[in-house]
Amino acid sequence: MASDSTATLDKASSTELQSILWFDPTRILIDGQWRAAASGQVLPVENPSTGGIMGQIARGGAADIDAAVAAARRAFEGPWGRTTATERGRILMKMAELVLQRAEALAMIEALDVGKPLHQSLNDAKALARYLEFYAGAADKLMGTTIPYQHGFTVYTLREPHGVAGIIIPWNYPMQIAGRGVAAALAAGNSCVVKPAEDASVSTLAFAAIAMEAGLPAGVLNVVTGLGTEAGAALSEHPGLNHLSFTGSVATGQRIQAAAGRNVIPVTLELGGKSPHIVFDDCDLDQAMPTLVGACMQNAGQTCSAATRVLVQRGLYDEVKRRMADMYRGLVAGPAADGCDLGPLISARQKNRVSHYIELGKAELSVAAEGSIRADASADGHFVRATLFSEVPPDHRLAQEEIFGPVQVLIPFEDEAEALRIANGTVYGLIAGVWTRDGGRQMRMARQLNVGQVYLNNYGAGGGVELPFGGVGHSGHGREKGFEALNGFTRIKTVTARHG
Ligand code: NAI
Ligand code: MG
Repeated sequence: MASDSTATLDKASSTELQSILWFDPTRILIDGQWRAAASGQVLPVENPSTGGIMGQIARGGAADIDAAVAAARRAFEGPWGRTTATERGRILMKMAELVLQRAEALAMIEALDVGKPLHQSLNDAKALARYLEFYAGAADKLMGTTIPYQHGFTVYTLREPHGVAGIIIPWNYPMQIAGRGVAAALAAGNSCVVKPAEDASVSTLAFAAIAMEAGLPAGVLNVVTGLGTEAGAALSEHPGLNHLSFTGSVATGQRIQAAAGRNVIPVTLELGGKSPHIVFDDCDLDQAMPTLVGACMQNAGQTCSAATRVLVQRGLYDEVKRRMADMYRGLVAGPAADGCDLGPLISARQKNRVSHYIELGKAELSVAAEGSIRADASADGHFVRATLFSEVPPDHRLAQEEIFGPVQVLIPFEDEAEALRIANGTVYGLIAGVWTRDGGRQMRMARQLNVGQVYLNNYGAGGGVELPFGGVGHSGHGREKGFEALNGFTRIKTVTARHG
């Protein structure tokens, strides 16, 4: 696809986005019908590579959420609730086929709307298809158990869907996060209401259009675009929900959990992190090097599981610093179309947040190296230079707080105990990478790292449809992805039969 798509994206404008879309992005999907928001209002769709406005989405609010939850309830209590697991799997597989057929269009939508380099947005479209395939295959392998009990009894468990699931999606991986939530929720038999992020809603609308084409019955998947404080808050507070999942900031996650608490419903939170990459003296450094930088630069550092802290044992510290600095000097930020190492950040707001951290770091820390911004990149695009800080004290704000931009800190350590202390020394705990050839150390680290995923001699930022994923501490709770997510989207009923 490279040459054609690049040509299209080069002169991306409102007409370019419109020419890719086969649905009207100013409509929301409720009960199988595409309609305007009840308020009649819209929000702009911005291209972060240029700052240009490419179109509009509906500004949905409480009335739309009410209608969407009611439609999801009717679907759940109606035909969808009686659908067999095998049929649900077939519909999800059909959705996967259509996503793959439209992968290039989906990738272009994401490149334009989110600013992801095309190869990354194409990867996201394929990951969306993989989630659908994975949960299509899993749908009819979800079972209860029989439990040995007293003589004269047969006891078994039924694994049942919760009912109506609310899914709130952030802007950094819209397709992947919609995929992992919706595919797992539907495979387990729930219906759902999805609220995409206001900065990146178009690909979720495209996904919903594909779901309709695939024959998903009306009301099973509803999508309401709008602001977090309006549609998002209305969804999270809605008493008609039976489950909530949220991916995003800690502050919003805390509000979501409080809202779920008022309605006494289960909630899955994935709130990002400050994930460490730990490099021991005995590692295969040539193998580690590309990952040390790549695991943060993907999506310009706007990845919940980005490896933002690079902990290096003293013996290798100078060499790692020199080699990472060389790589940083080659990192180029530029428009999503241009195959640069990084695209823009999602918004002016995010650029301000990240720039503030970079300025703070420059005032208080040493800069090991910086990347560049392409000379012809639009001044209104939200670009920042990749920046590497060295000798960073583990308790410095840049080593403690999620920056969500192309910024890494290098932290030296002496031994295994210190590495663990530093690695576990933030409020977060999402994932960790460990590079060492020592098998015993691999096992010790894997057990003692306070995170939801450990990578030994590899690192999986944003990847792994099959791999249960989620955090501890302020990184959240509950697990998405893999078979484990299906446990979260279901509940157990115990049936005790006395038969003598
Ligand atoms: P956010 O948490 O406010 O937004 C994420 C989603 O929540 C969006 O769909 C938004 O519309 C919705 N939302 C916002 N306020 C809401 C509310 N009161 N009730 C219900 N839904 C609401 O994140 P934001 O402000 O866009 O980004 C700020 C920081 O959050 C980033 O710099 C990053 O550190 C972190 N973040 C982490 C993500 C992750 O993957 N874990 C994804 C996005 C942001
Ligand atoms: Mg946008």
